[in-house]
Amino acid sequence: MTEELNERTPEHIGNDAASRHTPVLLQRCLDLLAPAFDVENPVLVDSTLGMGGHTEGVLQAFPHVRVIGLDRDTQALELAGRRLAPFGERFTGVHAVYDEINDVLDRLGIPGVQGVLMDLGVSSLQLDERERGFSYSADAPLDMRMDATTGQTAADVLNTYDERELARILRVYGEERFAPRIARAIVAQRATRPLARTGELVSIVRANIPAATRKTGGNPAKRTFQALRIEVNGEIEVLERALPQSIEALAVGGRIVVEAYHSLEDRAVKRALAVGATSSAPPDLPVEPATHAPFLRLVTRGAEEADEAELAHNPRSQSVRLRAAERVRPTPDHLKPRQTGRRAA
Ligand SMILES: C[S@@+](CC[C@H](N)C(=O)[O-])C[C@H]1O[C@@H](n2cnc3c(N)ncnc32)[C@H](O)[C@@H]1O
Repeated sequence: MTEELNERTPEHIGNDAASRHTPVLLQRCLDLLAPAFDVENPVLVDSTLGMGGHTEGVLQAFPHVRVIGLDRDTQALELAGRRLAPFGERFTGVHAVYDEINDVLDRLGIPGVQGVLMDLGVSSLQLDERERGFSYSADAPLDMRMDATTGQTAADVLNTYDERELARILRVYGEERFAPRIARAIVAQRATRPLARTGELVSIVRANIPAATRKTGGNPAKRTFQALRIEVNGEIEVLERALPQSIEALAVGGRIVVEAYHSLEDRAVKRALAVGATSSAPPDLPVEPATHAPFLRLVTRGAEEADEAELAHNPRSQSVRLRAAERVRPTPDHLKPRQTGRRAA
């Protein structure tokens, strides 16, 4: 994913949404979803609509499919909506966080879907929009909210979390070796004046990473920015809640395809799929009760990565880990996620 900034306005970006964000492993996603669409009036939920690249690919490849596109970012919804307008009623955009998938489907009167697609993380649009503060490459307010209408900003996190918590976030979400030093420097700086701009954070990181280390591994602020973005948007917690809900939304025969870009995301996906794909019967039972048989079948072997051809034309695909599964039977009652009234059809 390019993290270079440019001077274009949202309108300009909207006019060429297709060129702004190349969907990762698009053909593979289409191939994995295809068998699930072999029914009348199939529905796909694209839980991470973004610039609408994957959705456009689905709508073009499968003329009988309807797509419900979710995004917590109103700007993404607006731009994707414009791009997908030619598909008319086959596309419905909804402003929602993806752990609200079942509420959205209930509101739309859709009892079960044939596909759920999740392409996690930030979009190129979000990185390119200087004022949103996702990028370390230009000075901007410390915001980083995917949904700019609500929630804590990066400045709130930096100015209110205690030193230990800041260090934990940088270490766990950013895999930053120098997390304690950076956290200490943040706390020292804010004692004088609260942090407000991305440029201030970049300077703190630079000053607290040894010169020898700074020479390798790209911009030293990259890991800190990634960590803050994940914390600001509660990305791992939301994903852990959303995965069982999304699996629950699938009708029998439906498929879920998830593209993760961070090891913690991929671990959450692997675990959630394993719950459904593993017998829940106690190991010492001589016969597996039908109620404890797996309700998912994994359709990828481990996590798939991008091949050379994809890497050559789409740098964003470098860290992708793709996993997919198919629902083979309804979820047994004892494994149903809480706070959902949905049933597999
Ligand atoms: C990587 S982009 C998706 C790009 C899209 N597949 C395409 O081809 O254009 C991820 C999108 O998911 C959205 N997103 C991330 N987390 C979300 C969440 N918890 N709920 C809803 N949308 C989310 C982001 O705002 C961003 O627009």
